[in-house]
Amino acid sequence: MAHEKMGANLRVLAVGSGKGGVGKTNFVANLAYALSKKGRKVLVVDANFGLNNIDILLGLTPQKHIGHVLTGKSNVEDIILRGPADVHILPAGDGLQELTQLSSEKK
Ligand SMILES: Nc1ncnc2c1ncn2[C@@H]1O[C@H](COP(=O)(O)OP(=O)(O)O)[C@@H](O)[C@H]1O
Ligand SMILES: [Mg+2]
Repeated sequence: MAHEKMGANLRVLAVGSGKGGVGKTNFVANLAYALSKKGRKVLVVDANFGLNNIDILLGLTPQKHIGHVLTGKSNVEDIILRGPADVHILPAGDGLQELTQLSSEKK
């Protein structure tokens, strides 16, 4: 029941572009902040695998990232950080070459 209720209000928004440096990260940070301030529960899933930076923009320093989940070292709940306005962040990991070459199953 609880899950059905949560699912009914769940919205997934994907932000992407064919080009770097066009403002995706800043847009996501501001949208997440604004939605959270309006009372929505927000999780930002950073899919810049191997080249994260939303955590830097939000002033966070993740110790763990999605790579720890994919290799079975951490549970997904344990790597989620809380940023401004209680925005939740699932970090992508920095400088991790192997995260840029994930199998389609892992993606
Ligand atoms: N609305 C905006 N107006 C002016 N500069 C912006 C805006 N959004 C982003 N920038 C700047 O553009 C650069 C790239 O932004 P970023 O959000 O990191 O892009 P992306 O995630 O698409 O690579 C950064 O230097 C950022 O400060
Ligand atoms: Mg970016």
